[in-house]
Amino acid sequence: MIILSPSILAADFASLGEQMARAEAGGCDYFHFDVMDGMFVPNISFGLPVLSSIRKITKKVLDVHLMIEAPERYVDRFIDAGADIITVHQEACVPLAKTIERIHSRGKRAGIAIKPHTDVEVLGKYLGLADMFLIMTVEPGFGGQEYIDFCTGKIMKLKKMLSDSKIVADIQVDGGITRQNIGTVLSAGANVIVMGSSIFGGNIEENAKHFSDIFAEYE
Ligand code: DX5
Ligand code: ZN
Repeated sequence: MIILSPSILAADFASLGEQMARAEAGGCDYFHFDVMDGMFVPNISFGLPVLSSIRKITKKVLDVHLMIEAPERYVDRFIDAGADIITVHQEACVPLAKTIERIHSRGKRAGIAIKPHTDVEVLGKYLGLADMFLIMTVEPGFGGQEYIDFCTGKIMKLKKMLSDSKIVADIQVDGGITRQNIGTVLSAGANVIVMGSSIFGGNIEENAKHFSDIFAEYE
């Protein structure tokens, strides 16, 4: 199943609830929640109180992407605030296996993310551990950037690593996904698609419907 996970980083926060309702009406599956600390990435976004508020207004899966140093410090609090999936960065989390186990012990799904210049091979030893692997397709920190082409090869490589090991896990892509390159990431093997500008820029419901329709056909 191909999943649409709109990144609320690109929403208008003054009318966040209304904009999320429009994305739901267009058929999205998850909401992607980008947390930035100004340390791991050169930007600051939003955190726990915002997650608690949106937890009250949606039943959709809340897919939390922690772009923060030492994310193990905050896993429990994001789960308490309503996260369904927590993704931490391989580059930022030293006790990585332990952190994934902690997320699982709380009954939630766990993801491992890598930045564009991190070799996909680093994920090898975690293949059977995480539920999802996030291949960043832009440098994390900002929405609205252009897709980095060499990341397509990393998606394909990860897909092969998983199938060679006979392991089933989600492959998430995040950054610069558009109507133009959606076919490329789907063909490469991604199945959880994060999109900010391509959903919240313009007519939100129509954008979400456009991609949901493509995904339904792709099955
Ligand atoms: C970037 C974030 C992304 C971002 C994607 O650091 O992780 O989720 O919001 O936005 P677009 O789709 O606009 O590139
Ligand atoms: Zn993200």
